[in-house]
Amino acid sequence: MRRARNVARPIIEPFRIKVVEPIRMTTPRERRRMLEEAQFNLFGLRAEDVIIDLLTDSGTGAMSAEQWAAMMRGDESYAGARSWFRFEKVAHELTGMPFVFPAHQGRAAERILCAVSDLSGKTVLSNGLFDTTRANVESSGATGIDLPVTNTELFGGNMDLDAFDAKLEALAGRVALVVMTVTNNTVGGQAVSMRNLRAVSDRCREAKVPLILDACRFAENSFAIRRDEPSEHQRTLKSIAREMFDLCDGFTMSAKKDAIVNIGGMLGVRDAAVAEKIRVELIRTEGFTTYGGLAGRDLEAIAQGLDEVLDESYLAYRFAASEYLARALTKVGIPVLVPAAAHAVYVDAGAACPQLGHDELPGQSLACAFYLAGGIRTCEIGDLMFGGEDPKRRQLVRFALPRRVYTQSHIDYVASVAEEVAAVRERLPAMRITAQAPSLRHFSAAMAPAAPFPDFTG
Ligand code: F0G
Repeated sequence: MRRARNVARPIIEPFRIKVVEPIRMTTPRERRRMLEEAQFNLFGLRAEDVIIDLLTDSGTGAMSAEQWAAMMRGDESYAGARSWFRFEKVAHELTGMPFVFPAHQGRAAERILCAVSDLSGKTVLSNGLFDTTRANVESSGATGIDLPVTNTELFGGNMDLDAFDAKLEALAGRVALVVMTVTNNTVGGQAVSMRNLRAVSDRCREAKVPLILDACRFAENSFAIRRDEPSEHQRTLKSIAREMFDLCDGFTMSAKKDAIVNIGGMLGVRDAAVAEKIRVELIRTEGFTTYGGLAGRDLEAIAQGLDEVLDESYLAYRFAASEYLARALTKVGIPVLVPAAAHAVYVDAGAACPQLGHDELPGQSLACAFYLAGGIRTCEIGDLMFGGEDPKRRQLVRFALPRRVYTQSHIDYVASVAEEVAAVRERLPAMRITAQAPSLRHFSAAMAPAAPFPDFTG
């Protein structure tokens, strides 16, 4: 009998589509007008006027049939709802933290953690604080310092251990918290290795400084650890995820990422005294401890999402999708950071637009070009987002992939738009800020191009 040939099968979207949402197609002319009306700020667009929305992977995922079914089972009792007990059980099993609390999203969890930690005049060290985490740390009177590694190929999200040791020593007694963000969104969404997390954890224990995991992309980080860290190849994703939490004293999590829900968050700690303070703060600002500003149905959807996200075929597809996009962009001449993160592909706009200095906002110019050429919405992560103080900062554009939303043909469409943008990338205009807010300016700044954008035909 002839044996079947062993053919490598493509990694497919491991789901069928049961509910669809129409995409409204637009013309280049319409998009030019709408972008002008939004003052060249992509946050100012109506979502309906976007064809492919890669602004963020946060809260934009598609829930599964089981999540929707769980929502119908949501118990909306004020205290002690059934949905709370389901949420608590799943969160407890995943993280091993004895005390877990829901919150309405990640930044609420961060704010509460900062409120119960003695931060005033202290320092928070991190592999990379996300911008809301930094804002919360700094508004509590602490200074946030990022110490990511540079020049590594794998696990570019790691903490630079030499720099970390030096800071721990120099600031002895003044480091209030250490935050490890997995994956490290501020440095291209790169993963953190288990080895690095263990080393940071050992040092924190020695220095008696609490270690907090910013865990919103814990599943994606677990998959990268298993795939790229030889000592971890044989482990289950669940046990890797659990060890990441075991190495820490507490965590904050935006459930809008790897819990695949549209809203929600949580935090957890080991220390009973800290938990008591959180309880008080949570009740004062978010809601009673068994709902924390969420509806019972939201708690159900999170619990179900946390169960689904460590699925092998889901995570294999998730990484395959971003790698596919990264390859497609590279092929048409748009430079990307490698390896591709799971949640996004980061385009190096500084390299793509060598005619523009960092203060001419090459990232924003490129992001506007993608919108004009094909209605694609992305997000500048460079001088516009962070201010212009650091001339060495990379000028990036993030193409974030919502979970379970777009198919391969949508990504092929992005690639074809990228080809048109690549042809004119060296002619894209400088962008000038005409109005801005004192903080988090990228959300609302008004801008204008110094010269007209090229005409796009698509
Ligand atoms: N931590 C990280 C690493 C994040 O990426 C985010 C959000 C948060 C915390 C805050 O969570 O939005 O639920 O309050 N990141 C989104 C993004 C906004 O587009 O990357 P949140």
